Amino acid sequence: MSEQKKYPNFDLTGKVAIITGAARGLGKACALALANAGADIGLGLRDITTAKDLEQEIKTMGRKVIRLQMDVSSLQQISESVEIMVKKFGKIDILVNNVGVAPDNPAEKVTEADFDHTINLNLKGTFFTAQAVGKQMIKQGSGRIINMSSQAGFIALEDESIYCMTKAAINHLTKNLASEWAKYNINVNAVAPTFIETPGTKPWLDDKDFRQGVLDRIPLGRIGKPMEVAGAVVFLASDASSLITGDIMLIDGGWTTR
Ligand SMILES: NC(=O)c1ccc[n+]([C@@H]2O[C@H](COP(=O)([O-])OP(=O)(O)OC[C@H]3O[C@@H](n4cnc5c(N)ncnc54)[C@H](OP(=O)(O)O)[C@@H]3O)[C@@H](O)[C@H]2O)c1
Repeated sequence: MSEQKKYPNFDLTGKVAIITGAARGLGKACALALANAGADIGLGLRDITTAKDLEQEIKTMGRKVIRLQMDVSSLQQISESVEIMVKKFGKIDILVNNVGVAPDNPAEKVTEADFDHTINLNLKGTFFTAQAVGKQMIKQGSGRIINMSSQAGFIALEDESIYCMTKAAINHLTKNLASEWAKYNINVNAVAPTFIETPGTKPWLDDKDFRQGVLDRIPLGRIGKPMEVAGAVVFLASDASSLITGDIMLIDGGWTTR
């Protein structure tokens, strides 16, 4: 086929992906979407006794899958999970660095415990998961890392100062890692969603006034679905995005255009 006719390839057959916080919400959607695109899957779980249904669903799709005890506040569990993945699959091609928490507190009421917990999971967990998987990808000479940012990394959301701060930091970390690891053929990008219907956002979005306030800010006029984020993750994991690195892809229905 001539160079011009090498069409973009979205197929992930033969690829191996690990997803943190995979039990529900965006992590679960990413795991299913990557499996649907052909990848074998490691489910990073805060509690390994969860996600048995998800494991079965992925098996039914014809993919290999493993559940991993991977609380990202434990550097030991992170490194053990990477070891288990490499033992089972021989490599890791894709990391979806998804875990994040969002305490809802006016800045003047944020406690030290809130602050430490959020930094610990959103920043320390994201960094050291990228480091542990990155070391393996450096050995392989290839890899894709997709960090879970948020529109909150671009704009100020009310009562979310520490969350916004960590997502802005993830954006910058994404650029740092992209720049540093380009020489190893590792692409590092992030996705930055608006409000998406997940178990995590349900308590907020169930509040009619809050929901209307969100809808009023989204030009496309609706709350997002997890698969609308997972679609971008599959693209960034695929060969079709080979020249993209250090990008933070907004998936915000246009929120940040106004
Ligand atoms: N949903 C949105 O509107 C939205 C928008 C922008 C960005 N995001 C980002 O997307 C990511 C996922 O959000 P979500 O709405 O899908 O969240 P979610 O519904 O609350 O799910 C979070 C998942 O992360 C897991 N988790 C929590 N702490 C963990 C830990 N220490 N180690 C490993 N796993 C842990 C949870 O495990 P258990 O099930 O065991 O509790 C759960 O499965 C977060 O980074 C969030 O900031 C979400």
